[in-house]
Amino acid sequence: MSALISLFDYADAARGKLPKMVYDYYAGGAMDEITLRDNRAAYERLKLHYHVLAGVKDVNLSTQILGQTVSMPVLVAPTAFHKLAHADGELASLRATGAAKTAFILSSLSNTSLEDAGRAATGPLWFQLYIYKDRGVTEALVRRAEAAGARAIVLTVDAVVWGTREADARNNFRLPEGLFVENLSAAGKQTFPPGPGSGLKAYVTQHFDSGIGWKDLDWLCSITKLPVVVKGVCRADDARRCAEHGAKAVIISNHGGRQLDTSPATLDVLAAAVEALQQRAEV
Ligand code: GLV
Repeated sequence: MSALISLFDYADAARGKLPKMVYDYYAGGAMDEITLRDNRAAYERLKLHYHVLAGVKDVNLSTQILGQTVSMPVLVAPTAFHKLAHADGELASLRATGAAKTAFILSSLSNTSLEDAGRAATGPLWFQLYIYKDRGVTEALVRRAEAAGARAIVLTVDAVVWGTREADARNNFRLPEGLFVENLSAAGKQTFPPGPGSGLKAYVTQHFDSGIGWKDLDWLCSITKLPVVVKGVCRADDARRCAEHGAKAVIISNHGGRQLDTSPATLDVLAAAVEALQQRAEV
């Protein structure tokens, strides 16, 4: 195997190792993948107009997010089903973020339970939440996140209707035997419905509340003392409204181009969102 130097090398290596269904799930986007490509292209458009002769010798990238210290302004975003890639799954990812001294956001759709993640975490652990139709189930996840030591709840708001991921539909995306939506085992919602097409899309259609609105953000902020972070915002006016409704931070995201294709690249929205928020919430 050639040396793994850049993230592209890791992606190539993963393509060679992972089953096609898994690689396509991790790498793919919605529909024609216009947004997926544009997310990267936006970074390629960004140019760094650096100063010279600035007298910088000691470089320190550490910063604070929601009052928590991280070694660099890079966190691991909530991504589902790490055990599709490796038997250690999210526990391996937690070891990596712990060693890098940054934060790990555990997905609701993890193959590792909140409790196991909480025991393994050596750095900041946050929990990503979807609002289930059953509010009792949703609230129970929040309580378990609190008990497991999570330091923020990240509410995903751009996935009320699951993206049309054509590769997952073609591959009949399923969790292999022995893997589950671990956090939902207690609620009996740990498996995908049977049938052709993407089992995950069927799962989301069955269980997630597709009608959530601002009152649901109010509700979430009212039931927990943990800071609520809203993820999946791609407009400056929505970012501002999140803060008005109690969010302590906003993640500008289009879900990695996996939800609504032709939504704008996140980087193209970032500056306007920061401006609109006027420091009322972190971004
Ligand atoms: C999960 O969040 C996914 O995009 O598949």
